[in-house]
Amino acid sequence: MSIMAAAAAAPKIAFSDAPEKFAEVGAKSRLKVGLIGCSGRGMGAVDNMMEAAGGAVKIVAIADLFADRLEVARKFFEKRTRQYPERYKDAIDIPPERAFFGWDAYKKLIAEDVDIVIHATPPVFRPLHIRAAVEAGKHMFVEKPACVDPVQARQLMEIADMADKKSLTIIPGIQRRFSPAYQESIKRMQDGQIGEIVGAQAYWLNPRFFIQNKGELYVPEMDPEEMEYQIRNWFVFAWTSGDCYVEQHVHNLDVIRWGLGRDPVEVNGIGGRRWDIEFPKMGDRFSHFGVDYDFGGGVRCASYSRREQKSKDYVMERFIGTKGVLELDLGSATNRIIGQKPWEYKGPRPEPIVQEHRFLLDCLLNNKPVNMLRDMIDSTLIAIAGRESCYCGRNFKYAWLKNRSKLSLEPKEWKFGKKPIEGVRLPGIYKLV
Ligand SMILES: NC(=O)c1ccc[n+]([C@@H]2O[C@H](COP(=O)([O-])OP(=O)(O)OC[C@H]3O[C@@H](n4cnc5c(N)ncnc54)[C@H](O)[C@@H]3O)[C@@H](O)[C@H]2O)c1
Repeated sequence: MSIMAAAAAAPKIAFSDAPEKFAEVGAKSRLKVGLIGCSGRGMGAVDNMMEAAGGAVKIVAIADLFADRLEVARKFFEKRTRQYPERYKDAIDIPPERAFFGWDAYKKLIAEDVDIVIHATPPVFRPLHIRAAVEAGKHMFVEKPACVDPVQARQLMEIADMADKKSLTIIPGIQRRFSPAYQESIKRMQDGQIGEIVGAQAYWLNPRFFIQNKGELYVPEMDPEEMEYQIRNWFVFAWTSGDCYVEQHVHNLDVIRWGLGRDPVEVNGIGGRRWDIEFPKMGDRFSHFGVDYDFGGGVRCASYSRREQKSKDYVMERFIGTKGVLELDLGSATNRIIGQKPWEYKGPRPEPIVQEHRFLLDCLLNNKPVNMLRDMIDSTLIAIAGRESCYCGRNFKYAWLKNRSKLSLEPKEWKFGKKPIEGVRLPGIYKLV
């Protein structure tokens, strides 16, 4: 199905709970979808789209750097087709000639007749692949975070402008934005229900060092200083993932930026890595971070992020006002105000990771393009600033990092072979660039 270029104004976010809404369109002509990055979240995102689509989409192409991942995805889709025959009926159409692997797999997929690209590779590939997709006029669902460094963030801002000129829809995986409970909570706060906002807190404390591959390293027998090792185990290396502070905590920092409606002025962080985490086998990532963000006017946000085995789980966002406190937690379904005007969200709680696909399909099928890429870039940049402050052990102005930092973690060339890892960064010695 071809997607018509659409009206200029960004539509108000309106959600449909009913996949039936899309079924009629799907019965006539399905949207064609290609998946780049065929593991955990990539397959999960396809699953979420299937649930949302009510027959309006068809997966027609897949791409991954590694051939073995294509097979994993194929088996997953076969299993799902058996489990959910209604949802998956006639929805998987991936002949071998539309299953691509290798460094150029993304280009080959983008060259196919696909309307939507789902992007779920490690974060470092985001700008390269999104640029190619936008140049080819594809709509996208893009996983978080947006990127790993400020140079990539600036590239993505240009790409976002290009997407606007082409009336493309880009929906990012910052799923709290798609939760009706979060939407109502943030609106109430912005309408003054907790008074004047004086502070905020954000937490993502995780009891596992990583969650991919059921907590096991891929290719553990391989030399960690090989490119393949680092890309397969992207979640333990800073250059591939942005570090866990960026990769995981971007969700909570996105809520803080959404709620406060502005960027921070200054960042000041402390962080480190537990001594018993093996280097370089377990990457060069830190394991814990704490960042004080100064949002100006006396408003500060304290942010905490940890990924350490057997530590305690704690994930939430909190806004502190002169008349109350707003608490938000997606996992435990907490959305409440404590204070002079107490409130608790009692409305529907559709899965935000399905809602984001309903919203994407709604945009495409009703010709009302929405490009939310900038929101994810801005929130990712705030996380990158926090990470860099922890790495170097000093405070700095956020605007410097956003506009002037030359930090670039991307390799000059994409090829397999030796890729040395310098070491775990040492605060006080690591230099900002
Ligand atoms: N929104 C959420 O809640 C959520 C949850 C989990 C993961 N994620 C994000 O999704 C992304 C993927 O995470 P995951 O857990 O699925 O990781 P994963 O390792 O399970 O999957 C990544 C896939 O990308 C492939 N890949 C790597 N480099 C590639 C390239 N150059 N071209 C094509 N394919 C390539 C890998 O081979 C692998 O199959 C990450 O950015 C992660 O932060 C988001």
